[in-house]
Order: sequence, then C-alpha cells, then structure tokens
Amino acid sequence: MRIVLFGPPGSGKGTQASLLRERYGLAHISTGDILREAVANKTEVGLKAKSYMDKGELVPDDVVIAIAKDKLESVGDQGFVFDGFPRTIAQAQAFDRALAELQKPLDAVVNLRVEDEELVRRLSGRRVCPSCGEPYHTDSKPPAADGVCDKCGAELLHREDDRPEAIRNRLAVYANQTEPVLAYYENQGILKNIEAVGGIDQILERIAEALE
Ligand code: AP5
Repeated sequence: MRIVLFGPPGSGKGTQASLLRERYGLAHISTGDILREAVANKTEVGLKAKSYMDKGELVPDDVVIAIAKDKLESVGDQGFVFDGFPRTIAQAQAFDRALAELQKPLDAVVNLRVEDEELVRRLSGRRVCPSCGEPYHTDSKPPAADGVCDKCGAELLHREDDRPEAIRNRLAVYANQTEPVLAYYENQGILKNIEAVGGIDQILERIAEALE
C-alpha cells in the first residue's frame, strides 16, 4: 500500500500515520519529523529550515523534495505512508515524477477534514515526544505520567510552532499554498476525503474502510 496523508496542521496526520504504520506494516515518512531532527542535529538542512518552521512557513520546495526522494528510494519494496508531503503543486509534480521512475504509483491520498476551531484546540494542547515522535494532547490523549512519553520515557515538548501566532500563520499557509494540491489529486481520481473529527480509533476505521 502506498498512500499520502493530507490535511491541515493538527488534522491528525501524525497520529493516524503512526496507527496505519502498525496496522499495515508501512514505512512512515514524515517530512516534519525529518526536518525537526535535522534542526535538532544542526545539520546544513536543519539550519536552513529552522527559521521557516518556527514561523509556520513552508520550507523551500528544493530542500523538501530532496528529502522525500531520498526516503522514497530508501524504503525499497515496503509500502509507505507519507505524512505532510507533498504540500505544494511543485512538490506533488516532483513526487509523481519520482514515483513514475520507480514504477510505484500512489494508491490513495487521504484527506483529513477538520474545522479551524478544532485545529486550534488540538495544536495548542499538543505535546510531542522529541525522541520517538509520538503525539499527545493535554485533554484528548494525555500520557500516563505527566510530561513523559508512554512509549520511550523521554520528556515531552511543546513545539515552537504550536504557539498561537505560528498556528494562525500555519493555517493561512495551508489555505493558500497546500489546499490547491487537493484538486491535483482529485483530477487523478485517488483522493479520499475523511471526516477526521471524533475518536482516534473511529477515524482510523474510516480510513481503513476507504482504503480497502
Ligand atoms: P509538520 O510536522 O508536518 O506539521 P503540520 O502539517 O503542521 O502537522 P502537524 O504535525 O502540526 O499536525 P498533524 O496533522 O500531524 O496532527 P497530529 O497527529 O500531531 O510540519 C511542520 C513544519 O515543517 C511545517 O510548518 C513546515 O515548516 C515544515 N514542513 C514539513 N513538511 C513540509 C513540506 N512538505 N513542505 C514544506 N515544508 C514542510 O495531531 C495534532 C494534535 O491533535 C495532537 O495533540 C493529537 O493528539 C490530537 N489529535 C489527533 N487526532 C485527534 C482526534 N481525533 N481528536 C482529538 N484530538 C486529536
């Protein structure tokens, strides 16, 4: 299975990608996680990406496309779920070219639909594990022990771009630069729209039904 999880910031891409990885044995490729790791390790890519990410802007296409192609080649024959890529028409076109070269067309692009008010609620309460990437929420998915990751025991973080001003900017960037990509995949006939409000497991079942 080769899929893309699409949707605005906070729509649950990371949460659902992690569950899909477990259920279907997929490689989970999150450009956001890869970029955050690069920032933490102060690599050349990380130093370039940090200022964009902190403000909630998109990192330039050439940087992100290079990362995605690299990961795509490294997964070999395993199925995959891309989370947060592509986010511009240029990225979608470059992704299609890379997939065609490898003869690995996408099966589906799953679009998680959530209203802005709920997105703001989710992002402002989110905490993430800097070590294994597991997402939490102060109300809807608290860790068993306050501030500590259930999976690996690392101390949870409040992301810089989950502060109010950056959240507002990310939603505007999504509307202007990323939402137009939906029409691109609708034209290819592989877009699946999912109402992504409700229980996390319930949403996973809606996705699984749309994929099977
Ligand atoms: P990225 O990390 O991809 O951020 P994002 O798209 O803004 O998405 P999020 O990670 O914020 O949210 P999500 O949809 O994964 O939701 P989650 O599952 O965590 O990218 C960060 C930055 O990197 C970008 O701003 C950009 O600068 C750069 N970047 C990355 N990719 C790029 C690209 N392709 N091109 C250019 N730049 C790129 O859930 C959110 C919260 O809600 C959690 O607390 C969770 O527990 C909770 N939650 C989840 N589901 C539910 C539910 N059903 N009910 C209640 N709460 C829920």
